[in-house]
Amino acid sequence: MSTQTLYDAVGGHETFVRLVGRFYEQVADDTLLRPMYPADLSGARDRMTWFLEQFWGGPTTYSERRGHPALRMRHASFRLDGEARDRWLAHMRIALDELGLAPEQSTRIWEHLERTANFLRNTADPAAPGAVHVQTLTARPGSGA
Ligand code: HEM
Repeated sequence: MSTQTLYDAVGGHETFVRLVGRFYEQVADDTLLRPMYPADLSGARDRMTWFLEQFWGGPTTYSERRGHPALRMRHASFRLDGEARDRWLAHMRIALDELGLAPEQSTRIWEHLERTANFLRNTADPAAPGAVHVQTLTARPGSGA
């Protein structure tokens, strides 16, 4: 039925628990990402599950417990450069592929994750040690690129 949410179409809560559970299994072994997360990953796992379920039309537990997602603000204290983004997405790619969803469902979920990960990036890649960020940004307008 065309009014069915993607949440329901992919199998509801059980599917999101599998996706996020598999993702955090990989985060647990990731030397760059793991230190950013709390010692106990279970809270982070719950928050991510609630967020994705709500985004795709499932229960609104995330908003009820956490308020507005404000994801940029909530990630501001982490160093999210290109490498952090790539690793985060690589873990999600594997977790998503293992669900074995229909390609169009998988693509919709993937595009949202990729878009959001790019949006959350808050640190330029270090071309040289020190402050590259401001230089990169200010060089642009006059560069004609
Ligand atoms: C780009 C790489 C990313 C990194 C390294 C990263 C890292 C983190 C870390 C360290 C936390 C704190 C864990 C906790 O909840 O205690 C967090 C929270 C969270 N992240 Fe990310 N994240 C990334 C991308 C994303 C993306 C793409 C999304 C959404 C599609 C997302 C959604 C969330 C949510 C919903 C929370 C919980 C916010 C809250 O209610 O406190 N993150 N992230």
